[in-house]
Amino acid sequence: MKVGIIGALDFEVSALSALMTSHEVKTVSMVKYHTGTINDVPVVVAAAGVGKVNAAVCTQTMILKYNPDIVINVGVAGALEDELSIGDIAVAVSVAEHDMDTTPVGDEKGFISGIDRVYMDCDDEMTQLMYEAASKLDVKVIKGIIASGDQFIASREQRERIKREFGAVAAEMEGASIGHVCTMSNKPFAVLRAISDSADDESKTDFPTFARAAAKNSVQVILYMLKNLNRGDDDE
Ligand code: ADE
Repeated sequence: MKVGIIGALDFEVSALSALMTSHEVKTVSMVKYHTGTINDVPVVVAAAGVGKVNAAVCTQTMILKYNPDIVINVGVAGALEDELSIGDIAVAVSVAEHDMDTTPVGDEKGFISGIDRVYMDCDDEMTQLMYEAASKLDVKVIKGIIASGDQFIASREQRERIKREFGAVAAEMEGASIGHVCTMSNKPFAVLRAISDSADDESKTDFPTFARAAAKNSVQVILYMLKNLNRGDDDE
């Protein structure tokens, strides 16, 4: 099984590319694709850049050029669920684009025409594997809806809007775009995020202070998951 792993910023994935053996790098449309193995699992790892368009370009390129069996989005997010604190983990069961809005022509908020849905479902098995791997860390782990949009959420009003309209537990800027592209190609995907801030008025100082430390937790979960995946493959 080849695993594609996409982060937005370098610090969300650089610890993974640093651990790769048979490591090769190719650049396509400004994005570096790192191929090799981690714990004997074939992987392709990339930092896409911030936001939905960057994530979509990276996901489509990764699918066409490297054909991973699954695409996993890792990194940090702002918490919408009050129970989540900095460093805790949110694993997506589904993702939605909170800034997609064609309600004036009669669609539901977040409705994506073409794939004709609001919520894109994550791969059940990988979501469960990551949930179990995350539970080994000494942090709270929850499964829920993760919402993405081309906005850094840093106000109570926006936070409450996304929570109310989408029932989301965390907000970030790429997961749903990756889910959207994967859904168009019938490619399984999963999203794992560590909390760097609470998507509120404190976020502009919390994000730069805590994002790197939080990202380490999401990388740790991926490493545990890859170990388990490898063990699973051996059993077959
Ligand atoms: N990623 C981490 N924190 C975020 C926030 N508050 N809004 C959007 N993306 C984020």
